[in-house]
Amino acid sequence: MGIKNAALSFILEATSPSELEEIKLQFLGKSGKLTLTLKEITKVPVEKRPSFGQLGNDVKQTIEDSIDQKMALLKKEHQQEKQARLDITNPAIKPPLGHLHLITYAIEEITEIFQRIGFSRVRYPEVEWDYYAFEALNFPSNHPARDDWETFFVRGEKDTKKGHMILTPHTSSGQVREMEKAVKEKNEGDIQIKMLNIAKCYRRQSDVSHTPMFHQFEGLVVGKGIAITHLKGVLDYFVKSFFGPNRISRIRPYHFQFTEPSFEIDVSCGVCEGKARLPDGQGCRLCKEGWLELGGSGMVHPNVLKAGGIDPKKYSGFAFGWGVERVLMMKEGLEIDDLRLLYSNNLDFLDQF
Ligand code: DAH
Repeated sequence: MGIKNAALSFILEATSPSELEEIKLQFLGKSGKLTLTLKEITKVPVEKRPSFGQLGNDVKQTIEDSIDQKMALLKKEHQQEKQARLDITNPAIKPPLGHLHLITYAIEEITEIFQRIGFSRVRYPEVEWDYYAFEALNFPSNHPARDDWETFFVRGEKDTKKGHMILTPHTSSGQVREMEKAVKEKNEGDIQIKMLNIAKCYRRQSDVSHTPMFHQFEGLVVGKGIAITHLKGVLDYFVKSFFGPNRISRIRPYHFQFTEPSFEIDVSCGVCEGKARLPDGQGCRLCKEGWLELGGSGMVHPNVLKAGGIDPKKYSGFAFGWGVERVLMMKEGLEIDDLRLLYSNNLDFLDQF
């Protein structure tokens, strides 16, 4: 039927709801084309009237349906267009802002604390020789203590003097390098070292409390007449500056190859204030006995000074080396179920800091 095709092509071309309304009127209105045609039914022979009526109704239905569909489409398009238009009264969209990683913040804070008392931040290679990481630090070759460091070895030729190339397992590897540098500069004159070596360290371990890459900060002080009291003073100063004025440190005997005597350093617990009990009499959930373990330290072993070209009869020194991740968790009272989360680039986690 010509009417149907004419209506459908008009509908197809319509670009606005009002145009569609007009088309509807034009074909289906009281004096619309289809309405008038259907009125002609009286002129149709009686026997053909039912099929004529049926056809008329089908055409009417088709036109109505097409108009409805097109109307819905135009309204949707109109809506999208409206949304796309710039409305300067809308609140601005905030671009996502990044920030430094929480470990970077911790490194900055630690650096500042030590710089205030004259330490200089240094950096030594992450890909290091066995010599600086172990041999020069008084580890006899094949000493079982080397196993504790779970070292990554770099494939390649062994150096005749410096041994295998490895990923440095601790920042202590900077100690002898720093001594060599000082000796070169001062020519055994008046050696004074106050080094802070903060670096990435690598060990073959990955579980909820270990990541294969982590950070340590290493202090080394060498000079004339350096004693344990100096070490204790620096420890207390750091503990109060980093953890808070009410915290204190204690030193406990321990063993490391490169220090003698060696200590483990503890810091008083911030939750129970070193009492191991809470005011309600309950045991502290964070610490054992009121103390939290910070890390290793000690008086530099004479053999290590010698390896650095420094005469242990004239000079003495102390050293300490602690994990950045560890002190940060201790400071914030953060209980991260899985430390690997720190380095998994999970923005939901990182955004919280
Ligand atoms: N390097 C040791 C470690 O990775 C920590 C350490 C212990 C560093 C004693 C020191 C020290 O400087 O004196 O576990």
